[in-house]
Amino acid sequence: MNQRLDPARKIGGTITVPGDKSIAHRAALLSILSSGPVEVTNFPDSVDCHTSLKAAEVMGVRVNREDDKLLLIPPATIELPPETIVDCGNSGTTARLLSGIVAGREMELTLVGDESLQSRPMKRIIDPLTEMGAEFFSEDGKMPLRIKGHKLLPFEYRLPVASAQVKSAVLLAGLASNCTVAVQEESLTRDHTELMLQHLGEGVEIRKISPVPVQDPLDPRKKKMQMPEPFKRETRLTSQTRLTGGSVDIPGDMSTAAFFLAAAAISGETITVENVGLNPTRTSFLDYLKLIGCKVSIGKKEVISGEARGSVTVTGGKLNHRKIFGEMTVGLIDEIPIISVIAAFASGTTVIRDAAELRVKESDRLEAVADNLKRMGVKHGVLADGIAVEGGREFSGADFVSQGDHRIAMAFSIASLFLVGPSTIDDAACVSISCPTFYDLLDQIKQ
Ligand code: S3P
Repeated sequence: MNQRLDPARKIGGTITVPGDKSIAHRAALLSILSSGPVEVTNFPDSVDCHTSLKAAEVMGVRVNREDDKLLLIPPATIELPPETIVDCGNSGTTARLLSGIVAGREMELTLVGDESLQSRPMKRIIDPLTEMGAEFFSEDGKMPLRIKGHKLLPFEYRLPVASAQVKSAVLLAGLASNCTVAVQEESLTRDHTELMLQHLGEGVEIRKISPVPVQDPLDPRKKKMQMPEPFKRETRLTSQTRLTGGSVDIPGDMSTAAFFLAAAAISGETITVENVGLNPTRTSFLDYLKLIGCKVSIGKKEVISGEARGSVTVTGGKLNHRKIFGEMTVGLIDEIPIISVIAAFASGTTVIRDAAELRVKESDRLEAVADNLKRMGVKHGVLADGIAVEGGREFSGADFVSQGDHRIAMAFSIASLFLVGPSTIDDAACVSISCPTFYDLLDQIKQ
């Protein structure tokens, strides 16, 4: 469906966004390994999260719906017919986390996915899970994946790529197999799996490593700060780790809120998003908005189900450019498309580096962003690991191409609010992957 998008006269308001996609995936998939029921509230109605819910049902979880609550009742034992197939649709999180669960139990399963998922790298989970003792059959490390799970061996793993999905696959494999696993991270990725394991279970150890003062070898009068280990966090599960169940209330998705907060940033107006997740591994976007000149305030902060949440108010201002690289890019991994749009309306050239991971998301997001910036008439340059965007002028409406990628569709729908003349976006329906109510919310903030 092609959607017409008109510029906005005024932006503002208070909204809530659907529940966090990452947390919802985990609630659905962790229920497979729980010994007791998991009660979930504010489970989002998005396609990706329903994919995980359906996958959990195939694995034997009973899903009872009561008003706004989901009761997930785990199977006593997982018994699958030999030719079981799970369709992971568009969802990399479903495919990678479920692979971990299957790898750690004596069972056989095939995972399939849509065209986009079939192009995404799975070697990153196949390698560690194979090392632990599971068997994987695939062509070129891509979906479909046939997995033969086994009792796995204890495993210590330093993540070679900053990916919460890979970390979670290894942790869930250890949990499924009741063996010790330790995952070490050099760059901190989102920690929803660990927090949910702690909240719904016991025996999860998270060790954060901070720099300590040591004697400077070049000048004995001085001390310098040094990391005592070559990584920043270690998450360890043992054979004693248990998942017993409980309740999970899912806060709003910060990565969805980012699109609407970006509209406040660009317009110079104020938008509040209530009840949104404030897990520190997900709030780099708010730090970025402050750095480029916005006012950001947080209210009603509390922790529910192990996850921080609150309301976020952003007021835009005169926007500057800031370079994004290294660990900052990891924290902004899902926000780079909308940051590229903000960059088009900020002064100077915004340079984004260390973002090669964007090439293996639901689309090649660096190319998809570049293509749509070109359609708007924004000067930019694509790099192997990022993009440079020259901003600050007025741009005209354009016919945007989403490539079926929800975050590209949402990012350029936000851009359209600030262009001269109408725009269109193809396949607008793809926003339902993470936010089926996106266009209703857009109407709400266009006052
Ligand atoms: C996610 C982790 C990130 C993120 C994705 C969701 C998760 O992917 O981009 O949207 O829920 O664990 P990677 O693990 O590939 O970085």
